[in-house]
Amino acid sequence: MTMEKRFYLETFGCQMNVVDSERIVALLEGIGYRQVEAPESADLVLLNTCSIRDKAERKVYGHLGRFKPIKAENPGLIVGVGGCVAQQEGQRLLDKLPYLDLVFGTHNVHKLPDMVRDVEENRARCLETEFLDRDTRLRLFPDRAPGESVSRFVTVMQGCDNFCSYCIVPYVRGREVSRPSAEVLDEVRYLAGQGVREVTLIGQNVNSYGRKEEGEISFAQLLHRVQAIEGIERIRFTTSHPKDLSDELIDCFGALDKLCWHLHLPVQSGSDHILHSMNRGYTRAQYLRIVRRLKEVCPEIRLTSDIIVGFPGESEADFAETLSLMEEVRYADVFSFLYSSRPETAAAKLKDELSPEIKQQRFGRLIALQESSSASIWAADQGQVLEVLVEGESRQGGGQLFGRTTWNRIVNFHGSRDLIGQIVPVRIKRVYKNSHLGDLQIS
Ligand code: 5AD
Ligand code: SF4
Repeated sequence: MTMEKRFYLETFGCQMNVVDSERIVALLEGIGYRQVEAPESADLVLLNTCSIRDKAERKVYGHLGRFKPIKAENPGLIVGVGGCVAQQEGQRLLDKLPYLDLVFGTHNVHKLPDMVRDVEENRARCLETEFLDRDTRLRLFPDRAPGESVSRFVTVMQGCDNFCSYCIVPYVRGREVSRPSAEVLDEVRYLAGQGVREVTLIGQNVNSYGRKEEGEISFAQLLHRVQAIEGIERIRFTTSHPKDLSDELIDCFGALDKLCWHLHLPVQSGSDHILHSMNRGYTRAQYLRIVRRLKEVCPEIRLTSDIIVGFPGESEADFAETLSLMEEVRYADVFSFLYSSRPETAAAKLKDELSPEIKQQRFGRLIALQESSSASIWAADQGQVLEVLVEGESRQGGGQLFGRTTWNRIVNFHGSRDLIGQIVPVRIKRVYKNSHLGDLQIS
């Protein structure tokens, strides 16, 4: 009799890793493993890692350290690392961590079953971090996993060709490839049939979708075709690069009623000098023009952004430009990051003369400004009846459900589980920092 084997998987980082982890689960289930919630009760433990900033990378080492004593108790335990740190560090990880058995890079998720078998049978230490060519990658685009949830990510492209000077992504995820639109649409149709009501089309820079592929439709045209798929009620996409946000795509926010009124449009800095040094490919004025056009086409749209504080050479005047841009745009939310030097990137060679105190002080000022701006934007929802797509039972417990508004805001409220998957009216009665509390308006 064969005993069922158990695996534990922890995922860090962005949507790309979330999708890769869905694939990892499906692949491991395919070779007789079942997912468990605690590493102590597993035969195989895996981390799917992120290296976007130094802090993310250090976190991985911290988490891996937890597996060392577990392996000391259970020497048969297989320990593996995948994702961006695996891609970046490769053999160095195996050299540094003697209890590590396997390392698989961002293009090698499909090899995991063979690697696991190799460790099981030969106690081999395996490393697969080779980048694949374009055709192989297109062939290996993630298989569809069964859709049990209301909202799912659908990968439309992978990799990045932009080489923003601070960013490690092109080095750990490789060049940009777009998935054929027929395949994307097929997956969305399949998910709709499984009960999925919302899709988020994902890629490092979805706005440049299809540009490298001959005869492929544009991202805006892809959105039009997703809009036509029955059963799908809401469409989102991320991440957008401002330099590739075409007028055709902006017009989608007026033309497509399934497209949510939210756009994550990372600006990174409000200063032309810093934007240039970041190799972002747009100016402050061009960015603000896009924002104006978006608000003309869709007055209800709410924007969110990523901003880096303390990029090398950022003067007080540059930073003031970032704050003034934030005041002008009025973002609903901003994810702000202290600049972190990454290996191989162009910015790693720039002189970083700012003191940690100044960086921290600017970071604090940016967060204070954003908190007051966010609070005033979300406060406008108080008392309103908003349409909420119900996703499941709330983590708050107490029989509450949770869902999201078109602006991607979480709303918790009481209601019957039958409502999961439906869009329902909810009156917002409390606005918290990160979510709303509401009352269902149907009985
Ligand atoms: N340092 C700080 N922030 C970074 N980001 C990407 N690379 C770095 C870095 N080296 C931020 C950007 C990006 C987000 C995902 O992470 O703001 O949009
Ligand atoms: Fe990194 Fe720039 Fe590509 Fe985004 S667009 S992944 S920030 S290089």
